[in-house]
Amino acid sequence: MSDLRSLYQEIIVDHNRRPRNFHDLPDANRSAEGDNPLCGDRLTVFLKVEGGVIRDIGFVGTGCAISTASASLMTESLRGKTEQEAAVLFERFRELVAGSGSPAPGLGKLEALAGVREYPARVKCATLAWHTMRTAINPPGRDLPGAGNSATPGSIQ
Ligand code: FES
Repeated sequence: MSDLRSLYQEIIVDHNRRPRNFHDLPDANRSAEGDNPLCGDRLTVFLKVEGGVIRDIGFVGTGCAISTASASLMTESLRGKTEQEAAVLFERFRELVAGSGSPAPGLGKLEALAGVREYPARVKCATLAWHTMRTAINPPGRDLPGAGNSATPGSIQ
């Protein structure tokens, strides 16, 4: 196993064993539930958004090592980002784990999940938290950023 691959595996194991921001957020003004229809695992993502900036983020729920590590890494990546930046990162992450071209550089620790693209059945695991975050930030029917919201449960596509 290459050094890089081994480092990536260590990151995933660490974030699964000690997921960061694994808690609800009493003062969240955005939240959504998501599930992976392939396994039934569910999680909820909470965000506190002020002035279009993600001030705080947390998640709860159950999932496999990949989904838990991905959710944990996502929360670390998104704190302090604007909603627009979160949307861009969502697309770049999806390209990383499910795309066929070269992944965009500069994703930092998120690149630990790059190996998922070799296992199509695990892509939904890696993207579960991300789809849920996107629904929380931009639920169906919401046009403008800034309004408090709590989305209804939904499955990832
Ligand atoms: Fe359920 Fe991965 S097996 S989220």
